[in-house]
Amino acid sequence: MKILAVVESSHQGNTRKIAEAMAEVAPITITDIAGAKDYDFDDFDIVGFGSGIYAGKPDRKITNLLKNVCDEEKYSFVFSTSGTGKEKYNNTLIKQLESKNKIVLGSFACKGLDKFFVLRLIGGTNKGKPDEADFKAARMFILDVMKKYEVVK
Ligand SMILES: Cc1cc2nc3c(=O)[nH]c(=O)nc-3n(C[C@H](O)[C@H](O)[C@H](O)COP(=O)(O)O)c2cc1C
Repeated sequence: MKILAVVESSHQGNTRKIAEAMAEVAPITITDIAGAKDYDFDDFDIVGFGSGIYAGKPDRKITNLLKNVCDEEKYSFVFSTSGTGKEKYNNTLIKQLESKNKIVLGSFACKGLDKFFVLRLIGGTNKGKPDEADFKAARMFILDVMKKYEVVK
């Protein structure tokens, strides 16, 4: 099985850390948007998309990329880190992927260190996040995505 994770993680690298935790237990190649052009998505069984959340939305570079993906049925997953850690932030990417006939096998979200604006003055909120508990949850998540893929492919 081959998995590509396309991640934008410009604030603190929090979301990239989640992708790296997943890659400890799964055959994942990690790239950012700039590097994504070097890969043919068709070479991968599953292509996941991860982003930090900025003003309630994933990075525009990800949503712009998804506007241009093919309509062919393929498997995907989504993940994010944010100040609140709410999974509902993933709905933007899920809707976009489903509109392009992608089957979303899972959605993962957790809190990440947030040093936005005045929060920087106090060293940020969610210090130490994502932490080992989040990495463990991310590893379990990707193993579950792989299991689901084996059932539905
Ligand atoms: C400009 C900006 C806007 C943000 N807006 C939100 C937001 O609307 N909701 C939220 O929960 N977190 C928000 N955050 C916190 C980030 O989502 C959080 O720090 C996330 O872990 C960053 O991920 P990254 O390090 O992978 O970029 C914001 C952070 C920044 C820098």
